[in-house]
Amino acid sequence: MSHNTITINQQQQPLDHLESVWLFGYGSLIYKADFPYLQRKPARIHGWQRRFWQGSHDHRGTPEAPGRVATLVEAPQHSCDGMAYEVTPDVFAHLDHREKNGYLRIFTRFDWLDGSGQVEGLVYIAGPDNEAYLGEASPQQIARHIARSKGPSGPNSEYLLKLADALRELGEQDEHVFAIESELKKLLA
Ligand code: SIN
Repeated sequence: MSHNTITINQQQQPLDHLESVWLFGYGSLIYKADFPYLQRKPARIHGWQRRFWQGSHDHRGTPEAPGRVATLVEAPQHSCDGMAYEVTPDVFAHLDHREKNGYLRIFTRFDWLDGSGQVEGLVYIAGPDNEAYLGEASPQQIARHIARSKGPSGPNSEYLLKLADALRELGEQDEHVFAIESELKKLLA
């Protein structure tokens, strides 16, 4: 699959007939909301884990030297906390462009973190069949990769460190992210 997913997302999943759509963010979408939204609420999806297994050619790296950013991988016994945004369908023109490097939108259910119920919404996931996928590596290897990478959106380390802070604010204990953060901080010290 081509790593530019804009056309696939827009053709497979037209949203214009909807008044608003909930979007679940688990990576940079938690801490960088550069789009208008109607409301936002902490949420949890089940059956997925956050992993720094996706390459970034356009934000935190380049095609020649991709950075490493978050995607979700299937993990039936696990859940992942993040931030959900209610947006109008036109906002997906911007979001599809931002997430174009391998991320496909899927509809899924997520629960509100405050226990007040659940909603059906979209999440962007970069699966193992996209051209920018990098796959599994140890926290040390991922930290070394992140420490040397940068792209048009800034240093790759900023992505990781901002996400780790945002997860702490949400009360999310993400051992994968925190292990990389600890290795990265040693390298940056
Ligand atoms: C997300 O944050 O939900 C998707 C991945 C990213 O943009 O960092």
